[in-house]
Amino acid sequence: MDNILRGKNIIVGISGGIAAYKTPQLVRLLKKCSANVRIALTDGGTHFVSELALATVSEERVYRSIFPPADTTGTDYTRHISLGEWADALVIAPATANTLAKLSAGLCDDMLSALFITLRPGKPVLIFPAMDGQMFLSPSVQRNIATLAAQGCIVISPESGELASGQCGTGRMPEPESILSSLEEALHCTAQDSAFYGKSVVVTAGPTREKIDGVRFISNYSSGKMGFAIARAAAQRGALVTLITGPVHLATPPGVTRLDVESAVEMHGVAQSFFKSCAIFIGAAAVSDYRPVAAIEGKMKKEMPEIELTLVKNPDILAEFGIQKAPGQLAVGFALETQTGLDNARKKLKAKNLDLIAFNFFDRKSSGFEVDTNIITLIESDGGTTELPQLTKYAAAGRVLDAIEKLFVQQAGINP
Ligand code: C5P
Repeated sequence: MDNILRGKNIIVGISGGIAAYKTPQLVRLLKKCSANVRIALTDGGTHFVSELALATVSEERVYRSIFPPADTTGTDYTRHISLGEWADALVIAPATANTLAKLSAGLCDDMLSALFITLRPGKPVLIFPAMDGQMFLSPSVQRNIATLAAQGCIVISPESGELASGQCGTGRMPEPESILSSLEEALHCTAQDSAFYGKSVVVTAGPTREKIDGVRFISNYSSGKMGFAIARAAAQRGALVTLITGPVHLATPPGVTRLDVESAVEMHGVAQSFFKSCAIFIGAAAVSDYRPVAAIEGKMKKEMPEIELTLVKNPDILAEFGIQKAPGQLAVGFALETQTGLDNARKKLKAKNLDLIAFNFFDRKSSGFEVDTNIITLIESDGGTTELPQLTKYAAAGRVLDAIEKLFVQQAGINP
């Protein structure tokens, strides 16, 4: 991939969480990519990272207050406005509960919160909340995150692991390398030069629910995060994205048409109506392989000492698309595997006639269902494999889309 960061103006906003100690490394990585970096540090942030360290690595003064000293001359009085104009992207890492509350309420009492408001529309804002796990789950933090996401900010959930409190939970800021990859993906917003521009992309996401009776169902732990990240990233690259999703608790990414379904049969029915018209079909849903032969009316009673449930196979949506796709259409799948994964993924690629499959190992810590990161190996139909490092699902989505773009270019070479 070209170095999309070269010459870009990036503001790094740092608030007062322990993860702030990692931010000089993030700034160094950005500088290595030839980005211009300016830093807005909150008062809280100064307790965890030194202004001098940040000024040294960014080769710029660090911005903190919107109120310059009284003897200021020139444009420093309106720096919060000029910084908002200057920036191609804003990355806030770590974003504390306090900073999230300020941003979502529109307060602007320091440089970070003020320039957030003056940032030009359409410029990506990536927010990396990082805090104690219990704080992160509190209703007020979740409400503020939802408000910022609804405004179009890309809010990337923290990772799980050991926290500063010594407890384990969801609250860790992703590593600087992972933040950098997410930013690279967000900068693809300038979509006109992407092979995705104007293409119709269908993405399936989330779990399906297979009814046992009126109140019970069979399902799985899929959160829909990977499919939603793919949909978001494809829309940012200018694709016309239809997201067919099972029941999830996720906001619809900007510019994406969302169709909610419940069962595999429903998902199949909706997906089929796009088989002829879509350019790319990406199956990221964890479709239940089986469903009860017939759902019992009402609520099943528990008098029986044991019951037998007969399951029948569900349609394989992606395989059906793969097998009937026309030249020029691309089929992309995911393979969540535990053991002998790579071989199984290769078999699926062939059996479903896919152009690309993303194999991800299932460990529920850094990869697979529910978590916010993924470790993917991409396998192409010619056997070529690319191992990706642990990335946020958003950044991983970008790498999957890069691989699809490559396939488009190859195809265009074959059928100019
Ligand atoms: O379940 P399996 O491992 O075969 O899933 C691999 C791929 O096939 C995934 O991309 C998934 O979304 C898709 N799939 C599907 N319909 C099914 C089962 C899987 O579209 N019934």
